[in-house]
Amino acid sequence: MECVKNVSLILSVFLLSSAQSVYPRIRLSHKELWDLNRTWVFQGPGPSLQPQTMLLDEAHERLYVGAKNILYSLSLERVNHQHREIDWASSVSQVEDCLMKGREKPECANYIKVLHRYNTTHLLACGTGAFNPHCAKIRVGHTGQVRQFELEEQSIESGRGRCPYDHNSPVTSTLDRGELYIGLYTDYWENDAALCRLNNQSYTRTERDDRQQLNEPKFIGSVVIPDNNDRDDDKVYFFFTERGTDAEGVNKAVYTRVGRVCANDQGGQRMLVNRWSSFLKTRLICSVAGPNGIDTHFDELEDVFVLKNKDEKNPEIFGLFSTTSAVFQGYAVCVYHMDDVRAAFNGQFAHRERPEHHWTPYEGRVPYPRPGSCASEVNGGGFSGSKEFPDEVLRFVRSHPIMFSPVLPLHRRPVLLQTEPGGRRLTQIAVDRVQAQDGHYHVLYIGTGDSVVLKVITIYNKDTDTIEEVLLEELQVFKVPFPITEIIISAKRQQLYVGSEVGVAQVRLHQCDLYGSECADCCLARDPYCAWDGITCSRYYPAGVYTKSRRFRRQDVRHGNAVQLCNGLQIDGEQYQGAAERQVYGVESNSTLLECTPRSLQARVMWYIQRDPDREEVGGDERVVITTHGLLFLRVRSGDAGVYVCQTVEHGYVHTLLRVTLHVLGGQKVGALIHRTGEEGEGEGEKKATCHLPIDTSPGPHPGSNSDPSSRLQGALPGLSLAPAPAPGPTSRLPGPGTTSRLPAPGPGPSSQLWYKEFLQLIGYGDSQQVEEYCERVWCSGKRRRKTKRRYTQPMEVGERKGRGKGDPHRAPRHTLDN
Ligand SMILES: *[C@@H]1O[C@H](CO)[C@@H](O)[C@H](O)[C@H]1NC(C)=O
Ligand SMILES: *[C@@H]1O[C@H](CO)[C@@H](O)[C@H](O)[C@H]1NC(C)=O
Ligand SMILES: *[C@@H]1O[C@H](CO)[C@@H](O)[C@H](O)[C@H]1NC(C)=O
Ligand SMILES: *[C@@H]1O[C@H](CO)[C@@H](O)[C@H](O)[C@H]1NC(C)=O
Repeated sequence: MECVKNVSLILSVFLLSSAQSVYPRIRLSHKELWDLNRTWVFQGPGPSLQPQTMLLDEAHERLYVGAKNILYSLSLERVNHQHREIDWASSVSQVEDCLMKGREKPECANYIKVLHRYNTTHLLACGTGAFNPHCAKIRVGHTGQVRQFELEEQSIESGRGRCPYDHNSPVTSTLDRGELYIGLYTDYWENDAALCRLNNQSYTRTERDDRQQLNEPKFIGSVVIPDNNDRDDDKVYFFFTERGTDAEGVNKAVYTRVGRVCANDQGGQRMLVNRWSSFLKTRLICSVAGPNGIDTHFDELEDVFVLKNKDEKNPEIFGLFSTTSAVFQGYAVCVYHMDDVRAAFNGQFAHRERPEHHWTPYEGRVPYPRPGSCASEVNGGGFSGSKEFPDEVLRFVRSHPIMFSPVLPLHRRPVLLQTEPGGRRLTQIAVDRVQAQDGHYHVLYIGTGDSVVLKVITIYNKDTDTIEEVLLEELQVFKVPFPITEIIISAKRQQLYVGSEVGVAQVRLHQCDLYGSECADCCLARDPYCAWDGITCSRYYPAGVYTKSRRFRRQDVRHGNAVQLCNGLQIDGEQYQGAAERQVYGVESNSTLLECTPRSLQARVMWYIQRDPDREEVGGDERVVITTHGLLFLRVRSGDAGVYVCQTVEHGYVHTLLRVTLHVLGGQKVGALIHRTGEEGEGEGEKKATCHLPIDTSPGPHPGSNSDPSSRLQGALPGLSLAPAPAPGPTSRLPGPGTTSRLPAPGPGPSSQLWYKEFLQLIGYGDSQQVEEYCERVWCSGKRRRKTKRRYTQPMEVGERKGRGKGDPHRAPRHTLDN
């Protein structure tokens, strides 16, 4: 039953890497999110907040955060406004005890790992208490105008069995009807892993030292799911990874498990006293079929998200998995339906004679009531509780806790894969269900190891049995790269609450106007939250939600077919209407960039040169390179002068972004000017009088750039230099889809000196004072010059006439680059 670990991984990997690559349609830096008012960040007092656990309370409009020595209550409206806090540090004597045990100072703090709504007025919070776990009740809510957030001192009690000792120890818990279900290591030395239930009267758990039940588990998630309308049939599901138990530790492979118990399990009377009488588990499979039927398994569960449904019996379960081998590291998201989970638990039990034998389906007689079922009316009502179960049943469940059939994912494969070599680490997942015009979609929010949240939809095509991933947005939620440790969705507020070591951020789920104001912009975005309403791209509400807005909405998430959907709504393409126009001046034999950066990273950029009456596509060669920033002439010639058109193609939709007229200035004329500059420069201090022009011929493809061409230096000093490239985005090692060829390595670093003032006058730009300032600020000082590598300066528009309105989607907000 533990499927054969694949041997020819390389073949499978080949198959994986040929899967579609994932580029976000839109990438937003932290600064951009900030400037768009789309995010707020709560950082607390120190350099690192270290949130351990978060709890959403939509009723009280608060987000509770358990951190190191402190509990926070944050506003859902704005996490960094009017927060409340409770200091709950370990006492001096506790810390001393902890240090005496040989622990380090940072470990000897109270890390709050467990936080639940206990009842309508109180939370239950448990912390590691410097390796001496404690729990307490926290009063929340209002009394009149006063917001309450207080720790009830008299409620502090031991947290043993309810909180790990070590803050790095894995733990998962859920609280249901006053009972805490928890998976954790219960002891100081982390020898005793257990799945437990605690309430006033009882403590029920898995067997101690039973490697068949739990073998070095890592606890990931837990949830209570009803089976039917009989609450006595409610089951508690635990998600965890553990090591295989084959052949006495020879097989060290890690597997992902789903385990379950009856919520009302009271254990046995004579045997299994205070032990689960219903604990069963099986394997969760998330794999990709390779050639020759050999699968690549993603066996390490990283995170799990249970998407609640109107039908509370059938939530959908999303697992984020990883696999690590000598060959590659990859991630996958698999979706499971409860039907399949239940079918596995209702199927055959796994059996093996001895640990070195293979697992087989158990063929013998299964006692009654079926082991793993609950004492409930639905199951015949013959037993008022698990204490009445026959010994035979208890013995069986004790010896056969594993099911033979694993749980297979929906469509029998991941809905999302990330297998690029050196790809980013994926750490967290949260999912929103969104109603669109053509059906409902799951919007996946995936946290990465470097502070980014990816917003993805996956579309299943029944006819071809294929899954399309659409990476809608890539959001850099925190300024500094740290792993995302938590993602919570508030559907009510349409916000995401994201935790990482440095703080808690909130991010709006959608920002439709960002896609642009035209029908095609909105349609191509394929964001199920957004639709074109005839004027702009705005939030889509299904019919009936807002009866007022009866305007016809255009949206096509499934296909993004703008050609069909927006036909006749825009005049575009050949007419060049709506496209920006620009003049660029290049110096003969120098490099020149005709900048054109589509907002969408999924658009393919095409360049044409107008040769009346026809036009010709610019193919690119060793002298003329198509980069993700635009068309780069490494050495411009006078024959290159002309009108260039920048077009994008996305989903078959052609969009003209820009018409650039390139003028090429004779090298001799400019050369003479430069010569003069050199002479003058000697006189009064070269540094002041001369601008150093860094002709940087190595911008490299930077798919991370969404910057507005006009705000770039290129726009300010047309045709003279390449602007400093923006700091490459996290995936910039990959050429963007718009890159048709990689840049050749630059030649010997050509750096020339130009007397800007005169030069700009020459090309008709007269405001010399501004030029001087500009020159001074940007290029004149060596120190500043280094800075400009990372920071844009105030843009100066030269020779540009914007043909588009203010809703131009390709116009990012003006900004200095985040650093
Ligand atoms: C962000 O909010 C500020 C005020 O809170 C406002 O001045 C600014 O225009 C907003 N920016 C955007 C892009 O909406
Ligand atoms: C909630 O629990 C606390 C602590 O046990 C208790 O003091 C309080 O009365 C309870 N509140 C309600 C509404 O039951
Ligand atoms: C736990 O015990 C307290 C008193 O000891 C009682 O008030 C409370 O109702 C009990 N809770 C449960 C869930 O049984
Ligand atoms: C740029 O132009 C100047 C003057 O024509 C010339 O001296 C210089 O070599 C050119 N730079 C490059 C990289 O061709």
